[in-house]
Amino acid sequence: MAPASSKPLTLSLLGKLSLLLKLLVIAPPTLLINNLRCHLLALFRGASLKYYTLCAFNKFGLRHLTPLQLQHMKPPTIVYYKSWVRKQSIAAIKRLSTSNGTPKPEDLVLSELKVDIETLPDGASSLLWLGDRTKAKKVVLFLHGGGYAIPMLPGHINWCYRAYLLASPGDVAVAILQYTLVPHGQYPTQLRQAAAGLSHILSSGVKPENIIFGGDSAGGNLTCSLLSHLLHPHPDAVPITSLARPVAGAFLVSPWVSTNTSTASYKKNNGIDMLSTATIDTACGHLLPKDLTEEDKAWVMPVDLPQERQEAWFEGLDKVVSHVYITAGEQEVFLDQSVQLADVFKKANNNGRLDVKVEVMKSEAHDWILLEGENGHDGDATRRMRGWVKGLWGFK
Ligand SMILES: *[C@@H]1O[C@H](CO)[C@@H](O)[C@H](O)[C@H]1NC(C)=O
Ligand SMILES: *[C@@H]1O[C@H](CO)[C@@H](O)[C@H](O)[C@H]1NC(C)=O
Repeated sequence: MAPASSKPLTLSLLGKLSLLLKLLVIAPPTLLINNLRCHLLALFRGASLKYYTLCAFNKFGLRHLTPLQLQHMKPPTIVYYKSWVRKQSIAAIKRLSTSNGTPKPEDLVLSELKVDIETLPDGASSLLWLGDRTKAKKVVLFLHGGGYAIPMLPGHINWCYRAYLLASPGDVAVAILQYTLVPHGQYPTQLRQAAAGLSHILSSGVKPENIIFGGDSAGGNLTCSLLSHLLHPHPDAVPITSLARPVAGAFLVSPWVSTNTSTASYKKNNGIDMLSTATIDTACGHLLPKDLTEEDKAWVMPVDLPQERQEAWFEGLDKVVSHVYITAGEQEVFLDQSVQLADVFKKANNNGRLDVKVEVMKSEAHDWILLEGENGHDGDATRRMRGWVKGLWGFK
């Protein structure tokens, strides 16, 4: 497949002007229409209206801004990670020193956070740690989404803190993978970096049964590629040979695993979801070379393969992972592909050794757990994720 494209890698003056124009001219009417449509559809369908304002806002950004314009508006992943950790820990230390009741467990966790970055061998990716990796018994490798175009968002780091660190304070550390975004790198760069991250965690002595990994949207795509890599080592990525037993779990939130934009859930949810046919067609254009072979498809968009090939590809998954958790919203365009992926996992491994949990929630559209995190909430999707982790590792 094509390596990094030859497009300019920083936002040009023209790109900045066009961003300004889009924000001034396209944004106001689009936001108004998106908000009306998202809220009315949610209302008619009897879904809770919570988070649909943010959904409508993201719908504008994802549809109208280019990857470089999106990156221009958000701090890079590492910069945001450092500022979040510093801000949260200072605030928690302050709350602990001024409160005279019993300290809140949340504040104890936050007050101990430290910036801890391990650069991976390629020098362009790294593990950004939340929690003390020298003491934690369990590790979550987190692969954030954002179409491979957007850096990690506040919602991602809030989600990691709430769903994993608080699942059993002191016992879990999260390694957020900072990876190369498009157009700076295309497939298989991100897979190579995710494999390097997992390999690093394993070689530092963490046992497979103490590891889970996963992510949302494009991070779900990357999770799926990483599972494939454990099954059939990708020639360009570091082989993971130290896997004596399956990893404990993998989670895929609204995973992006197909380029097919004409399924029923696209038709039904184009208007309400933050993603749409137009967004995904454009994004696939940014991300994927035109001439995908069958082999490439298995790696990148497994649900585009014929059914039997999909099952053959994922056969043996039970030997590399014990629990899989796939979530999707009834109001999202990726609903069909998420459910289809779960079905393929189950059919290809129906020996009872692989536990596949699928949740489709009525009020949710794409990536709801992220939107809860963006709002700083411990919402339903966040609580369900925390529950899954607690159950899997036997936390009280
Ligand atoms: C899926 O994942 C690969 C990386 O493994 C990425 O390069 C590819 O573009 C992804 N596909 C889409 C449409 O996100
Ligand atoms: C996309 O999905 C629709 C509906 O399931 C199906 O009829 C169509 O054949 C699919 N297209 C491709 C290219 O797989």
